[in-house]
Amino acid sequence: MSSVRVDFSNCMSEFAGGHGIDSAELESLYPKLSAAHEAVHQKKAQGSLGFMELPYKTEEAKKISGYAKKQKAKFDDFVVIGIGGSALGNIALQTALNHPYWNLLSKKQRKNCPRLFVPDNVDPELLKSLLDVLNMKKTVFNVISKSGTTSECLANFFILKNALIKKVGIKKWQEHIIISTDEKKGYLRELADKENIVSFTIPANVGGRFSVLSPVGLISASFCGIRPEKLLEGARYMDRKCGSDIVKNPAAIYAAIQYLMYWKGKKINVMMPYSQALKDVSDWFRQLWAESLGKKTNLKNDVVNLGPTPVKALGVTDQHSQVQLYIEGPYDKVVTFLSVEKYGTTVTVPATKARHYLEKHTLNELIKSEEEATRTALTKQSRPNCTIIFPEISEYTIGQVFYMLELATAYMGELFEINAFDQPGVELGKVLTYGLMGRDGFEKEKKEIKEFLISKKNSKYIV
Ligand code: PA5
Repeated sequence: MSSVRVDFSNCMSEFAGGHGIDSAELESLYPKLSAAHEAVHQKKAQGSLGFMELPYKTEEAKKISGYAKKQKAKFDDFVVIGIGGSALGNIALQTALNHPYWNLLSKKQRKNCPRLFVPDNVDPELLKSLLDVLNMKKTVFNVISKSGTTSECLANFFILKNALIKKVGIKKWQEHIIISTDEKKGYLRELADKENIVSFTIPANVGGRFSVLSPVGLISASFCGIRPEKLLEGARYMDRKCGSDIVKNPAAIYAAIQYLMYWKGKKINVMMPYSQALKDVSDWFRQLWAESLGKKTNLKNDVVNLGPTPVKALGVTDQHSQVQLYIEGPYDKVVTFLSVEKYGTTVTVPATKARHYLEKHTLNELIKSEEEATRTALTKQSRPNCTIIFPEISEYTIGQVFYMLELATAYMGELFEINAFDQPGVELGKVLTYGLMGRDGFEKEKKEIKEFLISKKNSKYIV
């Protein structure tokens, strides 16, 4: 079976020189790393780390794929209405595992599956444009919100629901909705109960950004022909691989390397897949890493603000955009390559009369050569980098990588001594928005933001 591996050689001083990690340094972190592993498992045993239970929810995965199989032929379009952890995993799964031009294929080419749209923004032009392309009578909307109250999700839902009712009528709109939300609370749960709408539960102990392997990610994936059972199988395999022998535990080693690099001043983690299919895995990871690890905390009685900054790049595209900075800019980065050993197809450059050196080579050789060249160039310049190796891209390997990176995030939380599972920093922006939007109970915030905006009205700093 295809096992995902992490190659961290180029983070070690042996290969990366002065900016690398000495093996003694890594070894001295092992006791703390083992303690992090224990702490994570203790939290799991206490029931607070639901993401670690998801790989074992095989019955639910079967139920979801069975439901999708029955329903999908009815619909031409599937729309995910959600944001953050309720959208990024859906996009990552679709880009990784389906045709890059999926929505342009015929329904037959899509094997009777619908097109997929994930409008994860409240930009009016985006939503209006979506309405231009959907045939409401043949569209199903998956409204995803763990809290059931997120304003972006609800605003888009209300608009789309209104448009839906106009086309299918007040008695039938419910048949076009699937709700994924908390089991008991929130507006969406109440609505599902009241209107008898099909609904799935997001477990209370699974945080949004850790929820891709729950109904959050699995429903849209199943409608688009992706096998949830295989995703979970991959995640289970990785869970077994990430055992207490931390030296052989890829999630623990990945976290250890990132943690040591952080304290060496490499606070930027650039994720750079050499595969178009994996480009949105970096986007998903960006949220996971940033929202989990960017925290204000008390360290040795001092308030400190810490957290690595995740940056996404794409090989080879960003060789012509970012790599100059990575090779000659400040020594503040560690690059995580996502590497694919076997691409799904082979494309050969045809022979030409000109006898160009590229002819008869494959694009597979070219992308691999560029990846090796970039990795070597970085290492030779003492720019630490590691590689997550996918034997191929499949549900099984994607499931492994999602789970591995989630677990690595949990380990990072323990190493940094922070809570990786909350997001208090998102709160201020949210309540000020409520104030501006006139939500009851947020009059103080309304006054505060209005006064601030008025004070800036004639600012001399606008040119
Ligand atoms: O990771 C998180 O908790 C957040 O990014 C949420 O996923 C995001 O804010 C959406 O929340 P909800 O699913 O409650 O609508």
